[in-house]
Amino acid sequence: MNILHNHDLTQSTGFKTPLHVRKYILIEHEKDIETIPAFGNDIPLIIGGGTNYLFVKTEIDSAISYTGSEITVIEDSNLTSVIRVGAGKVWHEFIIEMLDNGLFGLENLVLIPGTVGAAPVQNIGAYGREVAESIQTVHGIQLSSGMRVSLSNEQCQFTYRHSIFKTKDWNDFLITHVDFLLQKIEYPMAHYPDVQAYFTQQEIHEPHCLDIAHAIMDIRQRKLPDPSIIGNAGSFFKNPIIDISTYQTLKSTYPDMPSYPVDDKTVKIPAGWLIDKAGWKGFRHNGAGVHEHQALVLINANDAFGADIYALSHMVQNSILTMYGITLEPEVNIIA
Ligand code: EPU
Repeated sequence: MNILHNHDLTQSTGFKTPLHVRKYILIEHEKDIETIPAFGNDIPLIIGGGTNYLFVKTEIDSAISYTGSEITVIEDSNLTSVIRVGAGKVWHEFIIEMLDNGLFGLENLVLIPGTVGAAPVQNIGAYGREVAESIQTVHGIQLSSGMRVSLSNEQCQFTYRHSIFKTKDWNDFLITHVDFLLQKIEYPMAHYPDVQAYFTQQEIHEPHCLDIAHAIMDIRQRKLPDPSIIGNAGSFFKNPIIDISTYQTLKSTYPDMPSYPVDDKTVKIPAGWLIDKAGWKGFRHNGAGVHEHQALVLINANDAFGADIYALSHMVQNSILTMYGITLEPEVNIIA
């Protein structure tokens, strides 16, 4: 265990807004887990890379991270492998290592910023896949009691950009390892419109998983700002799920509004389209901005503070509520 005092966290947060932590506890190895004390009610903020947080304030009292990035094969058969990964492993690097070893299933999730430990929390997803489809077990520690707990996929209660780890009762749960069930046979998923269009244009008719990974890296690099250059946390809001009758009313006013079916009562509307149509693309507020190529992404355009990005997010939310009667929910974790 390593404890850093008055540590500057600015560069490790997604938005790269000024942030100091008074006490930062780093759990670096599996063997250190035993030394983690029970924190009772005094729980440090759990940071799994910090990429999906917006820090409105510039200083926090205490934070904790599991930074171990070990990879172990837990089970191996002709068709599948179960791989245990330390929460500190960089997500994109992990996928590339798995693909290099002929293990498939995560290729649609390349280049999502952050760590392995953060992936289950908001059930990261992109281009037609969600990480929940490949997670077998999540291991961690309940920091209040110091107890080690393992949850099966079902117990994680994964839904769209949500899991049990986002609920209040589990906000003291430090994820240390994730077990992934990966395939040795390729089941490429190329149905997402942007991916399909890419392969049509490249004249690739039967893409392999590796082709998918390359296509998605290319698409993301064109559309989304690189967080190592421009601070951002990917999609700032979730795509809202609305009932069919509200959808039909809106569709008569906005015939070009895209939608994805959810079930027979609801549809999902791309928040990026709503925000774009409302004219926000490229808008700036102090140093905060709405990205030029993807309106769902708020950025630190020019030395913004967390509070500037937060204020901009409220301006966007209010405008979308007024224009369409839809409340946008943040996808990023806001630490106010
Ligand atoms: N659109 C616009 N203008 C925009 C942005 C989008 O008109 O500025 C339209 C697009 O033309 C398209 C639709 O909205 O018709 C959907 O856009 P896109 O395919 O870019 O995806 P998204 O729904 O905005 C979601 C995820 C992304 C993920 C992409 C690709 C959420 C909240 N976001 O975005 O995830 O990469 O699909 O699968 O579900 C993230 O969570 O951080 C993230 C980047």
